Amino acid sequence: VPDARPPVPPAPDGLLAALRAVVGEANVVVDADVTAGYERDWTGRFVGRTPAVVRPGSTDEVAAVLAACTAAGVRVVPQGGNTGLVGGSVPLAGEVVLSTRRLDDVGPVDELAAQVTVGAGATLARVRAATLPAGLDVGVDLAARDSATIGGMVATNAGGLRALRHGPMRHQVVGIEAALADGRVVSHLRGLLKDNTGYDLPGLLCGSEGTLAVVTRVRLRLVPVLAHRATALLAVASWADAMALVAGLRRVLPGLEVVEAVDRIGVDLVADAFGIRVPFTPTPAVAVLVECADVRDPLDDLAAALADRAEVVDAAIADDPQRRAGLWAVRERCTDAVATLGVPTKLDVTLPAAELAAFAVDVHAVVAAVAPGARVVVFGHVGDGNLHVNVVVRPGAGSGAPPGPDPGADVHERVTVAVFAEVARRGGSISAEHGIGTAKRGHLHLVRSAEEVAVFRAIRAALDPAGTLNPNVLTPPA
Ligand code: FAD
Ligand code: MLT
Ligand code: ZN
Repeated sequence: VPDARPPVPPAPDGLLAALRAVVGEANVVVDADVTAGYERDWTGRFVGRTPAVVRPGSTDEVAAVLAACTAAGVRVVPQGGNTGLVGGSVPLAGEVVLSTRRLDDVGPVDELAAQVTVGAGATLARVRAATLPAGLDVGVDLAARDSATIGGMVATNAGGLRALRHGPMRHQVVGIEAALADGRVVSHLRGLLKDNTGYDLPGLLCGSEGTLAVVTRVRLRLVPVLAHRATALLAVASWADAMALVAGLRRVLPGLEVVEAVDRIGVDLVADAFGIRVPFTPTPAVAVLVECADVRDPLDDLAAALADRAEVVDAAIADDPQRRAGLWAVRERCTDAVATLGVPTKLDVTLPAAELAAFAVDVHAVVAAVAPGARVVVFGHVGDGNLHVNVVVRPGAGSGAPPGPDPGADVHERVTVAVFAEVARRGGSISAEHGIGTAKRGHLHLVRSAEEVAVFRAIRAALDPAGTLNPNVLTPPA
C-alpha cells in the first residue's frame, strides 16, 4: 500500500544533535515505523509527519529541548497519551513531537493534605493505583484512563464521568510546574488551598492545549474513596424524560456522582460491536446510567428515588462490582463502538438544560441535511449538559461491515458547521471537555468574541513569542 502521508520534513542542521545531547541518543526517535504511532491521532482523522519524537526524562530536559527547538525556529507539539479527540496532539505541519511519557513519576501520597505530586506523563490509571490504597482518588475519571496522562488531562481540562460531583480537571489542580518555550521553568507546587498571590497559573494552563507551556509536574487534590457504590441503568422514553430524571434525582440523592446517557442507536451499536448484554427489550430511546457513591451502601436510597420517578420505564440496578461493570459497559464502550464504524466526526457540546432534549432530537435532521445517510450516535454526560455527537458517513455499509474510510475533510467540516450552528443558536458551547484542538479552531468565533480571541493571542504571544508551541491548535488561523 503506498504511503499517502506527506513526506517527513527535514530537521535544521544541528538540531537533532543538540536534542541528542540533551536527552540521549535513544530518546530522539527518527525511525519512521516508530514515529508513525505519534503522528496519527486516536480517531485516525488527523495524520501528520515529524522529523523526530523527543522523549525527555526530566523537567530540565523538557526545558532544554524547548530552548533548542525555539533557537532553531522549529515548532513543537507536546504529546501525552495521544488519546485527545480534537487533533491537538499530532504534528500536522512537520513539528517535532515532545512526548511526556517518560515523565511518569508519582510522588508519595500526602495523606494529611489529601494531595499528590505527579509527573505530567503519568497515566491516570498509574496515579490512581498509587492513591487508592491510601483511600484517596483522583476526582476525574474517564474511559481512556490507561493511556491518558495527567499532563494531557490538565492541558485539555478533561471532564469525564464524575464532573457532576467533582468538577473537571481544573478543579483538581492545586499546583503546577511547566517549561516555557524559551526554556524557563515556572514551578508552584506547594498545593496551598488558599494562596492569593497573583495570577492563577494552574487555572491558566488547564485547557491551554499545549499552547502556553509544557506541563511537567502537577500537584493534584484528591477526593476520598467512597467504598460503597450503587449503579442503575434505566430505560427512558425520550431525552426530555432523561433531563427530567436528572433534575429529580439531583434533588434527592446527595451521593449522586454519575448521570450518563446513550441513545438507542448507541446502545444497539455497543451491543452489536462487542456483544454487550443490554438488560432491556426493546432498546429504549435513551438509556441513562446513574451511580451513587457513599460511605454506606446507597442501593436502597437509589432504588427508592427511582421508584418515585415516572420517567423510568425499566431499570437494572446493582451494587456488586461485576454487575455494575456490566451496566457501565453500555456507556463506557461507546467511543470504541463508534470507532468500529469508521473515522467519525466527533463533536463534544454543552447545551443549556432547557435546550438539551430538543437539540438531541433535532441534531439528526441537522446532520441528515448535510450528510444524508450518515449514522448519528449521541451519548454523553447528561448530568452536566454535555453531549457527544458522533457522525459516521459510511454509505451503503451494513451492520458488521469493516470500518469505512475517512470521508474527508469536506464532510467533517460540513457536519461540524451544521451542528455547531444549531448549538450556537441554542446558547451552547462547541466544546465541553475535549478542547478546541485543530478540529474546531475555525469555529471559535461562535462562542468567543473577537476581544476574547485577541486576549488569547496576547497571552500566547507573552508566554511564547516565537510561536514554538502547538501552532495548529486553539486560536483560529490568522
Ligand atoms: P494527548 O492526546 O497526548 O494531548 C492532548 C492535548 O494536550 C494536545 O493538545 C497536547 O499538545 C496537549 N498536551 C499533552 N500533554 C501535555 C503537557 N504535558 N503539557 C502541555 N500540553 C500537553 N476526554 C474527556 O474530557 N472526558 C472523557 O470522558 C473522555 N473519554 C475518553 C474516552 C476514550 C476512549 C478516549 C480515546 C478519549 C477520551 N477523552 C475524554 C479524550 C482524552 O482522553 C482526553 O482529552 C485526555 O485528557 C487526553 O490526555 P492525553 O494524555 O492522551 O493527551
Ligand atoms: C466519552 O465521554 O466517552 C468521551 O468523551 C469520549 C467520546 O466522546 O467519544
Ligand atoms: Zn466525554
